[in-house]
Amino acid sequence: MVDFSLTPDQESLRELARKFARSEMAPHAAEVDRNGRFPEEIYRKAWELGLMNLNVPAEYGGTGLGLFDQCLIVEELAYACAGMTTSIIANCLALEPIILGATPEQKDRWLKPFCADYHLASFCLTEPSGGSDAAALKTRARRSGDEYILTGEKCFITNAPHAALFTVFATLDPALRHKGITAFVVPRESAGLLPGREEEKMGHRASATSTVRFEEVRVPATDRLGAEGEGFALAMRTLDQTRTPIGAMATGISQAALDLAARYALQRTTFGKPIAEHQAIQAKLATMAQQLTASRLLTWLAAWTIDRGARGTLESSIAKCFSSDAALRVADEAIQTFGGYGYMKEYPVEKLLRDAKLTQIYEGANEIQRIVTARELLKRYA
Ligand code: CAA
Repeated sequence: MVDFSLTPDQESLRELARKFARSEMAPHAAEVDRNGRFPEEIYRKAWELGLMNLNVPAEYGGTGLGLFDQCLIVEELAYACAGMTTSIIANCLALEPIILGATPEQKDRWLKPFCADYHLASFCLTEPSGGSDAAALKTRARRSGDEYILTGEKCFITNAPHAALFTVFATLDPALRHKGITAFVVPRESAGLLPGREEEKMGHRASATSTVRFEEVRVPATDRLGAEGEGFALAMRTLDQTRTPIGAMATGISQAALDLAARYALQRTTFGKPIAEHQAIQAKLATMAQQLTASRLLTWLAAWTIDRGARGTLESSIAKCFSSDAALRVADEAIQTFGGYGYMKEYPVEKLLRDAKLTQIYEGANEIQRIVTARELLKRYA
């Protein structure tokens, strides 16, 4: 029989994340959002509690959690602040290509320091000339003896201004499209690696985003991940793993929006009664609850599928796409329930809408998720 109940370990994990989110993140969410501040002290505390690097296997010092458990944590963190959550989970994205594609010696070298001390890493795939067509990336990797020389520019890179390590996708020859793409691990101190200035963003303002320029950056061949030409598949396999937690992030935003709207509806009075007694508001809350429940279940299904060893490309793209579209609608309805107050920065709901928007864009825009979903689906009919 299918069982949706959590194990005692999962309950305690969720409780740990909930407590941290509500006591350490939520009280600062409005301030860091207003000031676009990167609250590194909170990220350090998350690391101390084992709430970062969730995907690093136990043999390299990590928690070795499965994707389902990671999603339980991410939903709780995002309930308090999606922006901080983006920065807290960005290491999972950046380290996943190492987990999937590195040799045991490389894993030892790169994963262990992240579990021994607080460090940030960045995943460098997207470029200014286009993010959705990943096979068309232009950053060049030129072989020179026992090194590669990287030249090019990445953009929208989460945590780049603060990162100690970068997983970088570059091409040996753009004409080869995906067959030329190769992955590298590049430390921050490498000469010619230049993070740009921090972007001013609409939402996720607690997270730092910038360009990263590579000006003739020399990378030893021993720091290549996998073989030449294997980088594109590695990036896709990484995103199969990391899109599901974006579904969890969107679910956390939806839950926060529904909770705020329902509580407000019970205490706000119009026409002589709480607005929760008006059918127009009840219909909103009901639709929000439907969207939220479906988001959580699709996210859980994708995580469960991947934890059982399947690739989960279809399930993760459905979970990410549905839950992020839902979060935008649910946050929008929460604002509508609050009326004019919802539009004011003094109340917390407008932030949810701004934060929800990014979940439709990053880790593959939802237009790309629909392409991925359709391709995977049609394979089953061919
Ligand atoms: N796993 C393994 N291999 C895969 C794969 C997967 N999930 N998906 C594709 N591949 C392989 C294919 O099998 C194919 O291999 P062969 O040549 O051996 O047959 C190869 O990769 C090329 O595949 P496609 O023909 O499907 O490639 P495409 O050029 O048509 O593009 C795409 C596919 C799905 C649109 C891809 O470009 C894509 O996912 N784009 C979106 C990129 C993205 O998500 N960026 C997000 C960046 S990270 C970020 O935003 C987060 C942040 O900073 C916080």
